[in-house]
Amino acid sequence: MNLKIALLGGDGIGPEVLSQSIKCLHAVEETFNHHFTYTEGLIGAAAMDKFGTPLPKETIALCTEADAILFGAIGTLKYDENPSAKIRPEQGLLQLRTELKLFTNIRPVKVFPTLIDKSPLKKNIIFGTDFVIYRELTGGIYFGEKKLNPEGTVASDLCEYSEKEISRIAHLAFKAAKNRRKKLTLVDKANVMESSRLWRKVVTKIGESYPEVELDFLFVDNAAMQMMLDPSHFDVILTENMFGDILSDQGSAICGSKGLLPSASIGNEHAMFEPFHGSYPQAEGKNIANPVASILSTAMMLNHLGLDEEARAIVAAVKKALRKNIVTVDLNPDSKYGTEEVGDFIAKNIIDSDDDFNY
Ligand code: IPM
Ligand code: MN
Repeated sequence: MNLKIALLGGDGIGPEVLSQSIKCLHAVEETFNHHFTYTEGLIGAAAMDKFGTPLPKETIALCTEADAILFGAIGTLKYDENPSAKIRPEQGLLQLRTELKLFTNIRPVKVFPTLIDKSPLKKNIIFGTDFVIYRELTGGIYFGEKKLNPEGTVASDLCEYSEKEISRIAHLAFKAAKNRRKKLTLVDKANVMESSRLWRKVVTKIGESYPEVELDFLFVDNAAMQMMLDPSHFDVILTENMFGDILSDQGSAICGSKGLLPSASIGNEHAMFEPFHGSYPQAEGKNIANPVASILSTAMMLNHLGLDEEARAIVAAVKKALRKNIVTVDLNPDSKYGTEEVGDFIAKNIIDSDDDFNY
């Protein structure tokens, strides 16, 4: 199969972890006889330094032409320390989500049995955790009107949702639940927010077309607590943009390291795959960042493109690395393996196998 893949390394550890994904893709090409072409684009602070904008039009063009996009991370210390800067690296990512209409962010939270001791939660609580967050990605408070009065003393961000924005992601979430354990939890704040009440109404109505899926509702504060008390209770979580952002970071902590989990941002025409984690600028260039989240995002990309066996081969190689403790320092403080070595091991172990771990 010929595929065109856009590579956006971004900032911080983004390019380093993405390089490990590329190693794995080369191994997939060789093992399964495919031919992928790669195009590289700048985004975030890297793009601002060169073009003065976090999302140059060249980058949008190469993403539009690609079959899929692999993204690293965005943000640098310089801008984190100055949150009021007019142009910020994060705008590159937010704009790209809008340009490509990537309205659904899918974040699976799955505990690897070999890493069960790495979680800050007790084993008996996290055992069997396997849920997926469907986070709305192009609406809500992130994109609503922003205002600041001339004195700079009153500010507001509008949280607005339309029926259309809710229903397109709701259908995807119900379909996912249908193929999983058939349980969908809508997380909202319908006791307070009008937009949440609209989510409940729209999602309840759509639920009638998916009678096999059990739908329930949780207020976001309670959902955050339940995620700590009984994470294995969740199957598919559907939620709006900001709640999904917060809950997905919380979910990733359950698994022991934020460096483990992949994600997909999907629209009707385009799809982008990226690790859960951020740019971790403190680790840049130190060869200590965990490449697993980026590599598993690559597996999610292959799944999305219909290359299921290839995706399984990547996941099997990742599991082998975890089993053999070939991991970065976030998982083993005494580890002698860095980003490159873990990436090399995983790439070398990509073979045609019939592992059943799937995203
Ligand atoms: C994420 C990130 C982004 C978000 C930032 C970098 C804008 O935290 O992908 O979760 O808030 O969506
Ligand atoms: Mn986030």
